[in-house]
Amino acid sequence: MSEQDKNIKDLKILITEEQIQTKIKELAQKIETAYNTNEDIYVICVLKGSVMFCADLVKEFKHNVQMEFIRISSYGNETKSTNNLHAIDLTLPNLEGKNVLIVEDIIDTGLTARFLTDLFKIKHHPQKLLFVSLLNKKCARQIDIEPDYYGFEVDNKFVVGYGLDYKGYFRNLPYIGYFPL
Ligand code: IMP
Repeated sequence: MSEQDKNIKDLKILITEEQIQTKIKELAQKIETAYNTNEDIYVICVLKGSVMFCADLVKEFKHNVQMEFIRISSYGNETKSTNNLHAIDLTLPNLEGKNVLIVEDIIDTGLTARFLTDLFKIKHHPQKLLFVSLLNKKCARQIDIEPDYYGFEVDNKFVVGYGLDYKGYFRNLPYIGYFPL
């Protein structure tokens, strides 16, 4: 018996698989150019939401890449930010002097992005730190922060798919959609 209380038949597609994949190619090119070096890029995948985006993005890189994974949660089972960040696992190797790229699924209130940016600058001292988010929910911002790169701006609706979940479901969809109210 599934505990899913939303039906995929009601989901409206907002961003197609093709749009996502085209955008990822563009982003990868811009990001690689911005590092302006041939040295390795340390890609930090912020679990769980950015798993799909990060996996597809690194496939486009020509640089040598090291992938690292950290886990943070701010939504629980809600469709609104709880403003309560749980850093579940922030274990990382020494990143001092490295080219670091933080990869997020969506920036909503900006709390997670602020926390991560401060953490990396204060604790890890990278040579160059860039932040990319697939989605940018600018209208929900509570903290003045912008990623260096983002794929698509979305308005103030709860979106799922391509890594983003509702109660743990819909991460596996290759596109992004929402449930109309
Ligand atoms: P922020 O700290 O409020 O910016 O929220 C960042 C995190 O909240 C993201 O990494 C997502 O995991 C989650 N989140 C924010 N908006 C959505 C949404 O529309 N759908 C699914 N998850 C979301």
